[in-house]
Amino acid sequence: MPDPDPTMTAVDAVLPAHVAVIMDGNGRWAETRGQPRAAGHREGLGATREAVRFFGERGVRALTLFAFSSENWRRPREEVEALFDLFVSAIEGELPELLERGVCLRFIGERARFPDELQQRMGEAERRTAENGGLELVIALGYGGRWDMQQAALRWARAQGDEARADDEAGLARYLSTAGLPDVDLLIRTGGEQRISNFLLWQAAYAELLFVDTLWPDMTTDDFERALQWYAGRQRRFGGVPGTQGEAVNA
Ligand code: FPP
Repeated sequence: MPDPDPTMTAVDAVLPAHVAVIMDGNGRWAETRGQPRAAGHREGLGATREAVRFFGERGVRALTLFAFSSENWRRPREEVEALFDLFVSAIEGELPELLERGVCLRFIGERARFPDELQQRMGEAERRTAENGGLELVIALGYGGRWDMQQAALRWARAQGDEARADDEAGLARYLSTAGLPDVDLLIRTGGEQRISNFLLWQAAYAELLFVDTLWPDMTTDDFERALQWYAGRQRRFGGVPGTQGEAVNA
Protein backbone atom coordinates (compact mmCIF):
# COMPACT_ATOMS: atom_id res chain seq x y z
CA MET A 1 0.00 0.00 0.00
CA PRO A 2 1.49 3.41 -0.90
CA ASP A 3 2.26 5.93 1.84
CA PRO A 4 -0.57 8.40 2.41
CA ASP A 5 -0.21 11.57 0.39
CA PRO A 6 0.91 14.21 2.97
CA THR A 7 -0.96 16.90 1.03
CA MET A 8 -4.22 14.99 1.29
CA THR A 9 -6.58 16.40 3.90
CA ALA A 10 -9.25 14.56 5.84
CA VAL A 11 -11.80 16.07 3.48
CA ASP A 12 -10.12 14.50 0.44
CA ALA A 13 -10.46 11.08 2.03
CA VAL A 14 -14.24 11.28 2.32
CA LEU A 15 -15.37 13.28 -0.64
CA PRO A 16 -19.02 12.91 -1.61
CA ALA A 17 -19.45 11.46 -5.10
CA HIS A 18 -22.70 13.35 -5.66
CA VAL A 19 -23.61 16.71 -4.17
CA ALA A 20 -27.09 18.18 -4.64
CA VAL A 21 -28.10 21.74 -3.81
CA ILE A 22 -31.42 23.48 -3.22
CA MET A 23 -30.37 27.03 -4.04
CA ASP A 24 -32.86 28.92 -1.85
CA GLY A 25 -32.99 32.56 -0.78
CA ASN A 26 -32.60 34.54 -3.99
CA GLY A 27 -35.95 36.30 -3.55
CA ARG A 28 -35.23 37.33 0.05
CA TRP A 29 -31.74 38.51 -0.92
CA ALA A 30 -33.32 40.92 -3.40
CA GLU A 31 -36.28 41.96 -1.23
CA THR A 32 -34.05 43.00 1.68
CA ARG A 33 -32.28 45.30 -0.76
CA GLY A 34 -35.52 46.73 -2.16
CA GLN A 35 -34.87 45.08 -5.51
CA PRO A 36 -37.12 42.90 -7.69
CA ARG A 37 -36.87 39.17 -7.03
CA ALA A 38 -35.33 38.68 -10.48
CA ALA A 39 -32.28 40.63 -9.28
CA GLY A 40 -31.78 37.96 -6.61
CA HIS A 41 -31.84 35.22 -9.23
CA ARG A 42 -29.25 37.10 -11.30
CA GLU A 43 -27.04 37.46 -8.23
CA GLY A 44 -27.62 33.78 -7.46
CA LEU A 45 -26.09 32.85 -10.78
CA GLY A 46 -22.73 34.08 -9.42
CA ALA A 47 -22.93 31.62 -6.51
CA THR A 48 -23.94 28.89 -8.96
CA ARG A 49 -20.81 29.55 -11.02
CA GLU A 50 -18.67 29.38 -7.86
CA ALA A 51 -20.29 26.08 -6.84
CA VAL A 52 -19.59 24.52 -10.24
CA ARG A 53 -15.96 25.67 -10.12
CA PHE A 54 -15.46 24.59 -6.51
CA PHE A 55 -17.02 21.13 -6.59
CA GLY A 56 -15.51 20.42 -10.00
CA GLU A 57 -12.03 21.36 -8.83
CA ARG A 58 -12.43 19.28 -5.66
CA GLY A 59 -13.12 16.20 -7.79
CA VAL A 60 -16.77 15.63 -6.92
CA ARG A 61 -18.20 13.41 -9.65
CA ALA A 62 -21.71 14.88 -9.91
CA LEU A 63 -23.37 18.14 -8.86
CA THR A 64 -27.14 18.51 -9.17
CA LEU A 65 -28.68 21.97 -8.78
CA PHE A 66 -32.39 22.69 -8.25
CA ALA A 67 -32.99 25.70 -10.49
CA PHE A 68 -36.76 25.45 -11.18
CA SER A 69 -39.18 23.04 -9.55
CA SER A 70 -42.45 21.64 -10.87
CA GLU A 71 -44.10 23.90 -8.29
CA ASN A 72 -42.27 27.07 -9.39
CA TRP A 73 -44.77 27.38 -12.26
CA ARG A 74 -47.09 28.87 -9.59
CA ARG A 75 -44.91 31.97 -9.28
CA PRO A 76 -45.94 35.29 -10.88
CA ARG A 77 -45.60 35.20 -14.66
CA GLU A 78 -43.11 38.07 -14.59
CA GLU A 79 -40.74 36.17 -12.28
CA VAL A 80 -41.04 32.95 -14.28
CA GLU A 81 -40.26 34.78 -17.52
CA ALA A 82 -37.29 36.53 -15.92
CA LEU A 83 -35.99 33.13 -14.81
CA PHE A 84 -36.34 31.71 -18.32
CA ASP A 85 -34.44 34.69 -19.77
CA LEU A 86 -31.75 34.13 -17.15
CA PHE A 87 -31.49 30.42 -17.98
CA VAL A 88 -31.15 31.17 -21.72
CA SER A 89 -28.45 33.78 -21.19
CA ALA A 90 -26.68 31.66 -18.52
CA ILE A 91 -26.44 28.65 -20.82
CA GLU A 92 -25.01 30.81 -23.58
CA GLY A 93 -22.68 32.76 -21.28
CA GLU A 94 -21.38 29.84 -19.21
CA LEU A 95 -20.97 27.26 -21.98
CA PRO A 96 -17.41 28.28 -22.99
CA GLU A 97 -16.14 27.87 -19.42
CA LEU A 98 -18.04 24.60 -18.97
CA LEU A 99 -16.42 23.27 -22.16
CA GLU A 100 -13.00 24.46 -21.03
CA ARG A 101 -13.47 22.66 -17.69
CA GLY A 102 -14.62 19.45 -19.33
CA VAL A 103 -18.03 19.61 -17.65
CA CYS A 104 -20.73 17.26 -18.93
CA LEU A 105 -24.13 18.95 -18.70
CA ARG A 106 -27.49 17.25 -18.26
CA PHE A 107 -30.91 18.84 -17.71
CA ILE A 108 -33.55 16.89 -15.82
CA GLY A 109 -37.25 17.70 -15.54
CA GLU A 110 -40.27 18.24 -17.75
CA ARG A 111 -38.91 20.48 -20.44
CA ALA A 112 -41.82 20.37 -22.91
CA ARG A 113 -43.53 23.34 -21.18
CA PHE A 114 -40.51 25.60 -21.52
CA PRO A 115 -40.17 28.19 -24.29
CA ASP A 116 -38.75 26.75 -27.53
CA GLU A 117 -35.61 28.86 -27.33
CA LEU A 118 -34.78 27.53 -23.86
CA GLN A 119 -35.42 23.94 -24.91
CA GLN A 120 -33.13 24.40 -27.92
CA ARG A 121 -30.33 25.87 -25.79
CA MET A 122 -30.63 23.03 -23.30
CA GLY A 123 -30.44 20.40 -26.04
CA GLU A 124 -27.51 22.11 -27.74
CA ALA A 125 -25.55 22.48 -24.48
CA GLU A 126 -26.13 18.80 -23.70
CA ARG A 127 -24.95 17.73 -27.16
CA ARG A 128 -21.84 19.92 -27.05
CA THR A 129 -20.75 18.69 -23.61
CA ALA A 130 -21.86 15.06 -23.96
CA GLU A 131 -18.37 13.64 -24.51
CA ASN A 132 -16.76 15.56 -21.64
CA GLY A 133 -15.33 13.45 -18.84
CA GLY A 134 -15.18 16.02 -16.03
CA LEU A 135 -17.82 17.06 -13.51
CA GLU A 136 -21.32 15.80 -14.33
CA LEU A 137 -23.41 18.93 -13.86
CA VAL A 138 -27.12 18.25 -13.62
CA ILE A 139 -29.53 21.18 -13.73
CA ALA A 140 -33.02 20.37 -12.49
CA LEU A 141 -35.49 22.49 -14.44
CA GLY A 142 -39.22 21.83 -14.22
CA TYR A 143 -38.21 19.00 -11.93
CA GLY A 144 -40.11 17.23 -9.17
CA GLY A 145 -39.07 14.06 -7.36
CA ARG A 146 -42.56 12.59 -7.61
CA TRP A 147 -42.71 13.34 -11.34
CA ASP A 148 -39.35 11.58 -11.75
CA MET A 149 -40.51 8.43 -9.96
CA GLN A 150 -43.80 8.46 -11.84
CA GLN A 151 -42.18 8.74 -15.27
CA ALA A 152 -39.58 6.12 -14.34
CA ALA A 153 -42.23 3.66 -13.14
CA LEU A 154 -44.23 4.15 -16.32
CA ARG A 155 -41.27 3.66 -18.65
CA TRP A 156 -39.95 0.73 -16.62
CA ALA A 157 -43.30 -1.04 -16.67
CA ARG A 158 -43.64 -0.47 -20.42
CA ALA A 159 -40.16 -1.80 -21.10
CA GLN A 160 -40.32 -4.76 -18.76
CA GLY A 161 -43.97 -5.75 -18.98
CA ASP A 162 -44.50 -8.88 -16.94
CA GLU A 163 -40.76 -9.08 -16.28
CA ALA A 164 -40.83 -6.06 -13.90
CA ARG A 165 -40.07 -7.24 -10.39
CA ALA A 166 -41.16 -5.37 -7.29
CA ASP A 167 -37.84 -6.15 -5.55
CA ASP A 168 -35.64 -4.84 -8.39
CA GLU A 169 -34.75 -1.36 -7.08
CA ALA A 170 -31.90 -0.95 -9.54
CA GLY A 171 -34.32 -1.74 -12.37
CA LEU A 172 -36.46 1.28 -11.58
CA ALA A 173 -33.41 3.50 -10.96
CA ARG A 174 -32.31 2.92 -14.55
CA TYR A 175 -35.35 4.90 -15.69
CA LEU A 176 -34.95 7.86 -13.33
CA SER A 177 -33.73 11.06 -14.96
CA THR A 178 -30.45 10.67 -13.04
CA ALA A 179 -29.75 7.18 -14.44
CA GLY A 180 -26.05 6.36 -14.42
CA LEU A 181 -25.21 8.77 -11.58
CA PRO A 182 -24.41 7.69 -8.02
CA ASP A 183 -26.99 8.33 -5.29
CA VAL A 184 -26.79 11.74 -3.63
CA ASP A 185 -24.30 11.71 -0.72
CA LEU A 186 -24.64 15.30 0.42
CA LEU A 187 -27.70 17.50 0.00
CA ILE A 188 -27.28 21.17 0.89
CA ARG A 189 -30.18 23.58 1.25
CA THR A 190 -29.47 27.28 1.72
CA GLY A 191 -31.87 29.97 2.90
CA GLY A 192 -32.86 28.62 6.32
CA GLU A 193 -35.73 26.26 5.44
CA GLN A 194 -35.42 22.63 6.49
CA ARG A 195 -37.29 20.57 3.93
CA ILE A 196 -36.64 18.59 0.75
CA SER A 197 -39.34 20.29 -1.37
CA ASN A 198 -39.89 17.39 -3.77
CA PHE A 199 -36.26 17.37 -4.93
CA LEU A 200 -34.39 14.08 -5.53
CA LEU A 201 -36.72 11.94 -3.38
CA TRP A 202 -35.41 8.56 -4.52
CA GLN A 203 -31.80 9.54 -5.10
CA ALA A 204 -31.34 11.29 -1.74
CA ALA A 205 -32.73 8.40 0.33
CA TYR A 206 -29.48 8.14 2.34
CA ALA A 207 -28.05 11.60 1.72
CA GLU A 208 -26.54 13.61 4.54
CA LEU A 209 -28.73 16.73 4.84
CA LEU A 210 -27.08 20.09 5.49
CA PHE A 211 -29.35 23.09 6.06
CA VAL A 212 -27.66 26.48 6.22
CA ASP A 213 -29.19 29.90 6.90
CA THR A 214 -27.07 31.72 4.32
CA LEU A 215 -29.06 32.97 1.33
CA TRP A 216 -27.93 31.42 -1.94
CA PRO A 217 -26.44 34.62 -3.49
CA ASP A 218 -24.27 35.04 -0.35
CA MET A 219 -22.75 31.54 -0.54
CA THR A 220 -18.98 31.53 -1.04
CA THR A 221 -16.23 29.03 -1.65
CA ASP A 222 -15.57 29.03 2.13
CA ASP A 223 -19.14 27.91 2.74
CA PHE A 224 -18.78 25.07 0.23
CA GLU A 225 -15.50 24.07 1.88
CA ARG A 226 -17.23 24.02 5.28
CA ALA A 227 -19.97 21.83 3.81
CA LEU A 228 -17.38 19.27 2.67
CA GLN A 229 -15.72 19.35 6.08
CA TRP A 230 -19.08 18.81 7.78
CA TYR A 231 -19.76 15.88 5.45
CA ALA A 232 -16.35 14.37 6.21
CA GLY A 233 -17.29 14.23 9.89
CA ARG A 234 -20.55 12.36 9.36
CA GLN A 235 -20.80 8.67 10.14
CA ARG A 236 -22.87 6.98 7.46
CA ARG A 237 -24.58 3.73 8.40
CA PHE A 238 -27.10 3.16 5.60
CA GLY A 239 -29.49 1.60 8.09
CA GLY A 240 -26.85 -0.70 9.61
CA VAL A 241 -25.12 -0.60 12.99
CA PRO A 242 -21.48 0.51 13.46
CA GLY A 243 -19.16 -2.43 13.95
CA THR A 244 -21.29 -4.93 12.06
CA GLN A 245 -20.74 -6.20 8.56
CA GLY A 246 -22.11 -3.80 6.01
CA GLU A 247 -21.12 -0.79 8.07
CA ALA A 248 -20.20 2.09 5.84
CA VAL A 249 -18.44 4.89 7.64
CA ASN A 250 -18.53 7.70 5.17
CA ALA A 251 -16.68 5.81 2.50
C1 FPP B 1 -34.99 29.81 -5.12
O1 FPP B 1 -34.94 31.01 -4.39
C2 FPP B 1 -34.25 29.95 -6.39
C3 FPP B 1 -34.79 29.73 -7.62
C4 FPP B 1 -36.17 29.29 -7.83
C5 FPP B 1 -33.99 29.96 -8.86
C6 FPP B 1 -32.58 29.45 -8.81
C7 FPP B 1 -31.85 29.91 -9.99
C8 FPP B 1 -30.56 30.38 -9.98
C9 FPP B 1 -29.74 30.45 -8.77
C10 FPP B 1 -29.93 30.77 -11.26
C11 FPP B 1 -29.03 29.64 -11.68
C12 FPP B 1 -29.06 29.44 -13.13
C13 FPP B 1 -28.79 28.26 -13.74
C14 FPP B 1 -28.73 28.19 -15.23
C15 FPP B 1 -28.57 27.00 -12.99
P1 FPP B 1 -36.32 31.73 -4.00
O2 FPP B 1 -36.73 32.60 -5.14
O3 FPP B 1 -37.33 30.69 -3.62
O4 FPP B 1 -35.89 32.58 -2.77
P2 FPP B 1 -36.81 32.98 -1.52
O5 FPP B 1 -37.04 31.71 -0.74
O6 FPP B 1 -35.96 33.95 -0.77
O7 FPP B 1 -38.07 33.59 -2.05
